[in-house]
Amino acid sequence: MAIERTLSIIKPDATRRNLTGKINAKFEEAGLRIVAQKRLHLSTAQAGKFYEVHKDRPFYGELVEFMASEPVVVQVLEGEGAIAKNREVMGATNPANADAGTIRKDFALSVGENSVHGSDAPETAKEEISFFFSGLELVG
Ligand code: CMP
Repeated sequence: MAIERTLSIIKPDATRRNLTGKINAKFEEAGLRIVAQKRLHLSTAQAGKFYEVHKDRPFYGELVEFMASEPVVVQVLEGEGAIAKNREVMGATNPANADAGTIRKDFALSVGENSVHGSDAPETAKEEISFFFSGLELVG
């Protein structure tokens, strides 16, 4: 399987509870390398732009407000089949449906406050990585 890169966001519900290290340990235990990482406090405009694809969904306003409420940690994860592997490690979007041992099962509070975001496909991974990082910031 090819080496891929994917964008990950540790969301405000997790940074608030000081879970960055515990979540990063799950990525590393799964063989994903953190090749870029920074902590940001997104503005409402930045969060709205990042999640623009969901702008017609009923939860969009709530999602944007939550993502801009407190700091996030944005990161690039690298590894074999990193996009799918990260989605496995995260677990289902709704923690009620997530498998045991996944990040969302262990840490998420609700479908909205679900601790992490991960890119869902190669094209979105590319777009999402370039939303937050320049090439110079990716150190594999
Ligand atoms: P994420 O992987 O970041 O992609 C879009 C986000 O929208 C998703 O995780 C959830 O946090 C959020 N989301 C999806 N469905 C709902 C919902 N029904 N109510 C609130 N937020 C939701």
